Amino acid sequence: MLVNNAFLLKRAFEGKYAVGAFNANNLEQIQGIIAGAEEENSPVILQASQGAISYAGLDVIAAIVLNIAKETNIPVSLHLDHGMSFEQNVKCLRAGFSSLMFDGSTLPFEENAAITKKVVEMAHPVGVSVEGELGRVAGTENKLTIDEINALLTQPDQAAEFTKLTGVDALAVAVGSVHRMRTQVANLDINRIREIRKAISIPLVLHGSSGVTDDSIKMAIREGLCKINVATALNMAFTQGMATALRAKPDEIDPRKILGVSRDEVKKVVKQKIRVFGSNGKA
Ligand code: G3H
Ligand code: ZN
Repeated sequence: MLVNNAFLLKRAFEGKYAVGAFNANNLEQIQGIIAGAEEENSPVILQASQGAISYAGLDVIAAIVLNIAKETNIPVSLHLDHGMSFEQNVKCLRAGFSSLMFDGSTLPFEENAAITKKVVEMAHPVGVSVEGELGRVAGTENKLTIDEINALLTQPDQAAEFTKLTGVDALAVAVGSVHRMRTQVANLDINRIREIRKAISIPLVLHGSSGVTDDSIKMAIREGLCKINVATALNMAFTQGMATALRAKPDEIDPRKILGVSRDEVKKVVKQKIRVFGSNGKA
């Protein structure tokens, strides 16, 4: 069934686990994610970035996920990841997404808060939830130094003000992770998460989780992290699946025989992440 993030994250917050928010760009990634969540009997957030939307098509992604959500017994939310404009959020709302995100993390505080508030005012009357972002989770391509990453971390007092001003359902916080890391070596600033949690009571969201150690993620969940975004680890699994299939049979031309392996690899990673997040059995 289709639900929104607010519903899933409230249950996660109370149950002290986190819901995986897995990025997908194509049919097989979506199928792998849903199959992994089904096998673990876990709620799941299927999220599409603007890049995924321009690659696959907004209505195509929505049609696939909404149809799967209708058929499956696990709760599924369809979420816009890193919506960079108000207009993108409007389009996703219209396409049937159950959850939105305005990412104004590169904007001045007031502008970020003002646009996020507008998205909330549009979404809430029709039961759609909204994630905001304060502080900035950079990407590996930004090649930031540790000091530069630290300068972008979320300030607890600002998080409190932002939450009050906007009415968001969940807040993405910068607490030491970096997008698109290929190895799990980063540790989160647990103390900062604790301080943010003292300042606000809405669910916290982790971006850039592919590079964070499992132990650090588990600690952060105990401090109130409820939604964990995973993209790079799934992309790696998907492409490695293709490579494995083609290595085993270099003259294979049936895409199903190649992408089917990718789909299984995605499913395995999703299952493993769900167990780390503790959402298995929570559907
Ligand atoms: O919004 C998507 C995520 O933050 C994914 O980050 O690619 O580092 O796993 P990741
Ligand atoms: Zn992200």
